[in-house]
Amino acid sequence: MNLVEKILIFSVLFLLKRRSCTSIDTINSIQSFKDGDNLVSKGGSFKLGFFSPGSSSNRYVGIWYNKVKEQTVVWVANRNKPITSRTGVLSINKIGNLVLYDENRDVLVWTTNVLATTGTTNESFAQLLETGNLVLFQGNKRRVVVWQSFDYPTNTMLPYMKFGVNHRTGLNRFLTSWKSREDPGIGEYSLKMDPNGAPQLFLFNGSVKVWRTGPWIGQGWNGVPEMKYELIVNASYVDNYDETYRMDTTVNASILSRYVMNESGVVEKLGLVEEDQKWVVYWHAPKSKCDNYDKCGVNSYCDPYSFECTCLPGSEPNSTGDWYSRDGSKGCTRKRGEQVCRNDDRFTMVERAKVPDTSLAQVNKSMGTEACMELCLRNCSCTGYASADVNGTGKGCITWYEDLIDTTTLLYGGQDLYIRVNAAGLAQFSKKSKWFDHKRLATIVGVSLAAMLLMLSLVYWLATKKKKGMGERNKSPNSFVTSPFYEGPSSKKEIVESGPNSDIQFFDLSTIVAATDNFSLANRLGEGGFGAVYKGRLPNGQEVAVKRLSKNSRQGIEELKNEVKLIARLQHRNLVRLLGCCIQEEEKMLIYEYLPNKGLDSFIFDKAKKSMLDWKKRYEIILGITRGMLYLHEDSRLKIIHRDLKASNVLLDATMNPKISDFGMAKIFDGDQIEANTNRVVGTYGYMSPEYAMKGLFSIKSDVFSFGVMLLEIISARKNNSYSPEDSLNLIEHVWDLWKESRALEIVDLSLGESYQPHEVLRCIHIGLLCVQEFAADRPSMSEIAFMLSHDTTLPSPNQSAFIFRRENNDPVASPTRVGPSSINDVTLSAIEAR
Ligand SMILES: *[C@@H]1O[C@H](CO)[C@@H](O)[C@H](O)[C@H]1NC(C)=O
Ligand SMILES: *[C@@H]1O[C@H](CO)[C@@H](O)[C@H](O)[C@H]1NC(C)=O
Ligand SMILES: *[C@@H]1O[C@H](CO)[C@@H](O)[C@H](O)[C@H]1NC(C)=O
Ligand SMILES: *[C@@H]1O[C@H](CO)[C@@H](O)[C@H](O)[C@H]1NC(C)=O
Ligand SMILES: *[C@@H]1O[C@H](CO)[C@@H](O)[C@H](O)[C@H]1NC(C)=O
Ligand SMILES: *[C@@H]1O[C@H](CO)[C@@H](O)[C@H](O)[C@H]1NC(C)=O
Ligand SMILES: *[C@@H]1O[C@H](CO)[C@@H](O)[C@H](O)[C@H]1NC(C)=O
Ligand SMILES: *[C@@H]1O[C@H](CO)[C@@H](O)[C@H](O)[C@H]1NC(C)=O
Ligand SMILES: *[C@@H]1O[C@H](CO)[C@@H](O)[C@H](O)[C@H]1NC(C)=O
Repeated sequence: MNLVEKILIFSVLFLLKRRSCTSIDTINSIQSFKDGDNLVSKGGSFKLGFFSPGSSSNRYVGIWYNKVKEQTVVWVANRNKPITSRTGVLSINKIGNLVLYDENRDVLVWTTNVLATTGTTNESFAQLLETGNLVLFQGNKRRVVVWQSFDYPTNTMLPYMKFGVNHRTGLNRFLTSWKSREDPGIGEYSLKMDPNGAPQLFLFNGSVKVWRTGPWIGQGWNGVPEMKYELIVNASYVDNYDETYRMDTTVNASILSRYVMNESGVVEKLGLVEEDQKWVVYWHAPKSKCDNYDKCGVNSYCDPYSFECTCLPGSEPNSTGDWYSRDGSKGCTRKRGEQVCRNDDRFTMVERAKVPDTSLAQVNKSMGTEACMELCLRNCSCTGYASADVNGTGKGCITWYEDLIDTTTLLYGGQDLYIRVNAAGLAQFSKKSKWFDHKRLATIVGVSLAAMLLMLSLVYWLATKKKKGMGERNKSPNSFVTSPFYEGPSSKKEIVESGPNSDIQFFDLSTIVAATDNFSLANRLGEGGFGAVYKGRLPNGQEVAVKRLSKNSRQGIEELKNEVKLIARLQHRNLVRLLGCCIQEEEKMLIYEYLPNKGLDSFIFDKAKKSMLDWKKRYEIILGITRGMLYLHEDSRLKIIHRDLKASNVLLDATMNPKISDFGMAKIFDGDQIEANTNRVVGTYGYMSPEYAMKGLFSIKSDVFSFGVMLLEIISARKNNSYSPEDSLNLIEHVWDLWKESRALEIVDLSLGESYQPHEVLRCIHIGLLCVQEFAADRPSMSEIAFMLSHDTTLPSPNQSAFIFRRENNDPVASPTRVGPSSINDVTLSAIEAR
């Protein structure tokens, strides 16, 4: 050893000694790093050292947050090769690689394995950066990064980490889950960029695709609308000749966030709440059933409300699969034939689409939308197109060829997707060719709904009449109009078939007397507008609800029997089933199925029980009531106006499926007099439309009014007719006042917590306000309501009612007082009504 070397070693040792007083963030060729030692990044954010995950005693080299109480590991070196004792040593080896040895066994456990030439020992060093990146540098004067932990992520993506592909080197940085909390070894799940076509991230379970983000469309991933507005990080996406990657930068470095591919196969975005040192999940995927990759098969798409699969325009169900079953996922076949690829091919738009898998699509980043359409039109195998950048410029063109895979519509966000259809296929809806205009499409769809349903019911009715008692499921052609309200063949079957069990039973009075224990008080369930209701148990054990009608029906016995027979045929999953009746002597009784859960009112107006109904449940209940009412008004052959729709007349079954009760009462009491004027106002104060309360005028639009009141009650968990005793305002008026000030969300029931999507609730409030407009003609019909609930179209502005109902003493039917100037308003539901 010569003098120079001695001096050198001395000075290095001296340096090390001084450095050890402060924190050390580097490993070099002289200093080795033993189990128990730590490296801390300059600003103190991250720490590198040996650790044992969970209750395991295995030792791993890893990086974790230095300032977070609970050890949160973000990277692991030897994830698949644990050291079983505390004898690990991390060092820079002779050729400059960072290596991990188990000294006990003298085994090389892990190495960066990037340097192959010898003689550069003293020039390599590893440094833990403030971003959590462990970097191996080479060269003293010109430092070159030869390896970095950010290029080999484990299960965590941190800000400043590039996630994606380097096209020059072929490096693809992706996340892989740990095996378990105790074992950081490579698990089953991974999140990886596929750079083909328009780049997307895929979540894999093994080699099976589970979920994808959709392509980057300027502001975020097409299929992840909730990430459009990042608050705690600055999200960037780079896609050029050299590389394609996604990277976050921090807006405020003291706010910690990370993405994790977790052990249960879920990608989570977490942020640290500093006060209580807890990580909260800001976002995760997959979450909805529609997220499952290729859930619906080719050329089909998944509806986010019902999770049902529907063929894309221009495709028809793949007849060899059982596509009709609710979980059908056999896909659809593009209609082929001589008409395909003629000059009159057109595109029809799917709104809010998570576009089909773009890995086989073609992208031209500079092409505009018009040119994109023409490009697609020119090539017969092009099946659809969409914009590649929805941010402002509209530049960019994605075109798909042949089958379309994994399409979904989203509750919000997404983008417009244009699907090729031939003109012949469209002709049945319209001869006009402006199919890019979605308002127009909405109009036509809205208007077609009722007609189509009527036609369908008729077709089924005829079909099932022919082969009554045969085949379980009748199949129907499918239209591309999807909505949770068209439940397909199964519900249609329910509607029109009268199987052996749906025949009306005529009960003997003595049977009912016995069943209800002689109408004992103990069995009395309540009082409705038309009489009292009792619980009963038939001799066969079946529980029933018996409605004992008050005696002022003007109908004759035979007429009544016929009416009951007709009403008993109305079967729908959102209507309480009428099992039979008992008409004897002075008694007229209707026997219904018994539902143990009682009325909706007993949930939403009950302090303790209302929290049992989160927003999802309430929304399902709203959809269910809508379906039931739509059926009564438009689908059934009878056209029934309920006249007493209210929360207590909506019963919930064991699964909280809503069932409308008392629906045949108006008809039974008034015979065929349906759209008319009545002397006897039955309804319930608070739910009655002005024209009904004032003039006894009733129509389907007075039911719509009651529906609107109920909708607002479900959202606010407040009764319209007993709103805030110290306050003279009723609920409707209160909602109006808040609506005008854009504060409508303030009426939302606090017990809903954070379970709701504000836009969805706002839309429901908006629809509720449309329903309670003063003039019946302004109110939407049930089919329009169904449409509005299932499509994110622009809604018309509601007109405020000039009527204000005030509580006046104990008058059961309060006299409405007209205040303010009455306004003639001929603004109608222009978005939906035909011109
Ligand atoms: C590194 O080692 C080379 C020989 O291997 C020597 O020439 C050079 O001076 C050394 N540099 C330092 C900073 O020790
Ligand atoms: C989106 O467009 C706006 C202006 O239209 C621009 O300021 C912004 O940078 C764009 N964002 C991205 C991600 O391209
Ligand atoms: C986000 O990133 C862009 C581009 O990298 C930068 O111009 C902008 O200042 C960043 N915003 C913040 C809040 O850091
Ligand atoms: C960054 O966040 C911390 C903690 O939340 C806060 O105290 C600080 O003011 C923020 N800094 C900036 C520049 O916003
Ligand atoms: C994975 O993430 C999901 C969603 O945040 C969470 O429910 C689950 O508990 C996580 N699993 C593990 C093992 O952390
Ligand atoms: C992943 O695949 C395995 C085996 O096929 C399966 O048991 C597991 O449930 C899947 N995990 C998820 C989250 O789908
Ligand atoms: C239709 O379904 C059958 C059976 O599930 C399947 O083999 C076939 O590939 C499907 N055809 C199309 C076009 O998806
Ligand atoms: C992309 O579109 C532009 C404008 O239409 C065109 O000039 C260019 O040739 C296209 N690029 C490719 C690769 O087709
Ligand atoms: C249509 O596009 C496909 C896919 O890019 C291509 O393979 C085919 O040659 C094109 N056909 C015509 C007629 O341009």
